Amino acid sequence: MNCYVMTLFPEMVEQGMRTSILGKAMEKGLLTLEAVNIRDYTKDRHKKTDDYPYGGGAGMLMQAQPVFDCYRAISEKIEKDGAAGIAGNRKPAESLVHASESGLPASNTRVIYLTPQGRLFSQKMAKELSKEENLIFLCGHYEGIDERVLEEIVTDYVSVGDYVLTGGELPAMVMVDAVARLIPGVLHNETSADCETFHNDLLEYPQYSRPEEWHGKRVPEVLLSGDHRKIAAWRLGQSERRTAANRPDLYDRYCRKQHYIRVLTEKGKAHHIDMTESLRRGRGEIVEASEAGILIKDEEAKVYMLAAFDADQAEEVVGWVPGDGSGWQFSVHQESLLAPLGQRFPVSVRLPVYHVVYTERTAVSVPKHLSFRKLGEDYLEEVMSRYHMATDKGYLEERLRGGHIYGAFADDRLTGFAGTHQEGSIGMLEVYGEYRRQGIGRALESFMINLHLSMGYMPYGAVAEGNQASLGLQGSLRMCMSKGLLYWVW
Ligand code: ADE
Repeated sequence: MNCYVMTLFPEMVEQGMRTSILGKAMEKGLLTLEAVNIRDYTKDRHKKTDDYPYGGGAGMLMQAQPVFDCYRAISEKIEKDGAAGIAGNRKPAESLVHASESGLPASNTRVIYLTPQGRLFSQKMAKELSKEENLIFLCGHYEGIDERVLEEIVTDYVSVGDYVLTGGELPAMVMVDAVARLIPGVLHNETSADCETFHNDLLEYPQYSRPEEWHGKRVPEVLLSGDHRKIAAWRLGQSERRTAANRPDLYDRYCRKQHYIRVLTEKGKAHHIDMTESLRRGRGEIVEASEAGILIKDEEAKVYMLAAFDADQAEEVVGWVPGDGSGWQFSVHQESLLAPLGQRFPVSVRLPVYHVVYTERTAVSVPKHLSFRKLGEDYLEEVMSRYHMATDKGYLEERLRGGHIYGAFADDRLTGFAGTHQEGSIGMLEVYGEYRRQGIGRALESFMINLHLSMGYMPYGAVAEGNQASLGLQGSLRMCMSKGLLYWVW
């Protein structure tokens, strides 16, 4: 990821961000950060970048011209370089040329203006931004920036909290830090970003290190017990207690989710597993829920999941889906929802599937002669040509880039692959023709089950109606099948 910070104080940003984990991420080439001095782009003889506000009022405003030309120079650079990184330690003045008059702004780059008037920054926003290739941060000073240039270049107005700082540099640094640590490879422990504070609406539990006793305080006994289940339960209890005490707003949301996880489980554990897992893993948000049913949205996967608790309430549940639904897929849990859904949205595909769920907690054995490795983007062409259900190249590219597809290798030769779909199910299973009937499909599925178990998930997948071979495989792995069909609709 390449981050550009437009600022009047580039040293502040550069010095603040070169240390520790982010400095290492820059050395590894995972992140580049360039603080670009807006003053370098002023056309004023005295290098001025501010002036009095029309209509009077306190203080000075940053003028449109230097901000716009600075932005245009960055945009040109992004367009010229493509994704090619800029060395993290290069001085801005050396690497950026002044904007040419003809330079057109890059249209697909998010430009974030740091302002107390903006949307409140959150972990969710950080996650969303971590998927971008380039980000431009605009730091204001004095009393703000001429509105006209903001209208032209800014895509997102963001605040880091309900207080006023002297400039946007510290908020920009806060954002770069929170976003960059979510880029795969930046943190040593890739799962740590997944199970920490704000994941799943809970604050983190207390942690202890050596010695066992300090200032007369002993580490809680359960943490020394070696019993992982007990430790997990203790930590969950602590997280809940802390959240209830410090963040009642988060705790209410958490309790509501837990309630509907229970309701959906009672109404069919395997049938609703995509909904309950989506809520448990902190991906899905409840849009609306009542006695009538529930609507969950997974914003990242662009999937709405619908369940009606009674056939005559289906219309009400469909009515909860906002907008025109374009670009979204629907996971429909009752047949009664299909007709009202079809009346509201122009859907063309309806795929009936069964859910299969691995409900045990113990790992499945995997043959020793195979090794499993993440497939990177360099496997895109191969995966695209081999995967029997490949239609969307962009989707497979995104899955590979995120490290969600694994290959099974025998003697260093790729024999097949499987992965995790965006909304969380196991899928994309393919065994190469020449390696079929050797247990590789089963081994891949077993590997994926173990991987999901290690992340604290309940492993599940979906099997298209009529795919007896796949149902047979899932059954032999003791996966439970949903009683009824559900429908993937788009
Ligand atoms: N600039 C000044 N105060 C700010 C805040 N709270 N968030 C973002 N940018 C700011």
